[in-house]
Amino acid sequence: WKTLDDMELAGRIVLTRVDINVPVENGEVTDATRIERIVPTVHDILKAGGSPVLLAHFGRPKGKVVPEMSLEPLVPALEKAFGHPVTFVATPTRGALESLPEGAIALLENTRFAPGEEKNDPEMAQVLAGLGDVYCNDAFSAAHRAHASTEGVAHRLPACAGRLMEAELTALEAALGKPRRPVLAVVGGAKVSTKLDLLANLIEKVDMLVIGGGMANTFLAAQGLDVGKSLCEHDLADTAREIMAKAEDTGCEIILPSDVVVAEEFRAHAPNTVVADTAVPADCMILDAGPDSVERILGAIDRAETLIWNGPLGAFEIAPFDAATNAAAAHAAARTEAGELISVAGGGDTVAALNKSGAADRFTYISTAGGAFLEWMEGKTLPGVAALDQA
Ligand code: 3PG
Repeated sequence: WKTLDDMELAGRIVLTRVDINVPVENGEVTDATRIERIVPTVHDILKAGGSPVLLAHFGRPKGKVVPEMSLEPLVPALEKAFGHPVTFVATPTRGALESLPEGAIALLENTRFAPGEEKNDPEMAQVLAGLGDVYCNDAFSAAHRAHASTEGVAHRLPACAGRLMEAELTALEAALGKPRRPVLAVVGGAKVSTKLDLLANLIEKVDMLVIGGGMANTFLAAQGLDVGKSLCEHDLADTAREIMAKAEDTGCEIILPSDVVVAEEFRAHAPNTVVADTAVPADCMILDAGPDSVERILGAIDRAETLIWNGPLGAFEIAPFDAATNAAAAHAAARTEAGELISVAGGGDTVAALNKSGAADRFTYISTAGGAFLEWMEGKTLPGVAALDQA
């Protein structure tokens, strides 16, 4: 793929696909990370004399005009981040965009209001292409969608990756493409069922795999252990056993909890105790990894040169069941700062957990992507990235 440096931008309209699908509560953006991360792209286009025209989706309006999902209310947040006025253009035409003053930043309406967007309708892609001279995709977190604004249009204009897309792809390549070994993957979260493809891909590629969170319960149960009232997908026991057997073939060391923190109820500060994974009381649920497990996880982080992390290790939303996640995050951050570890993390819950732990800023790279990060960890080709490769 090409970058902004490879493109002629002066005097050109640069259709820039961004992901500003940010959380909004009572009209206020509650986490502006995705907006902040596209600033370098917008600034570099302006610096090169181009006019950025931002294309983005917001929510899932499914091809209909849903006024609450308009992008217009995001203009102040964009202006604040860019330090530059932003003009909202509800019905864009080439003429309307050309008549904007030089150096203006334009924002178009939610791409998903058009029925052609999610269908990747060639007609819509052609209309979009007619609006600009260059296409820049800076929306890695939407690159798993083959939509008109993420894929179709990339075949119809000279196309390149924006700065955030470049950073995401470079970090992910360093973590799983050509990593420094040993590579450790930490995979947690509630359910195995949502991460089967991911586990299958990782055991082929990484040297050590920590399985934590609710997912680990399914693996413990598959080994014949009683997990009491814990979240557990008993119907996936065979699958869990197959994954463990395959990991043995590929030489991937699987690290499961050996002790766990249990409580009778799922609530903050519920009375809790540490037990061996073989001694979970029938009326209790596992809410975090225990101290011995944490020691083993920290040991794996010490042995690793590269860490890729998706999914919290316990019920991180409620104290004190965030202890294992926090300890592992702090340890990985310290090794990263010492120059001993490349640490990459992604996924909505993961980033929330790492932010909460205070360690996120000290990781090598934190992805802005949720679903796209998962699909990439599954080894899938992301259509938005493939289109840039072909351009
Ligand atoms: C995201 O929030 O992960 C991206 O913006 C993609 O959104 P989608 O899952 O609605 O396609």
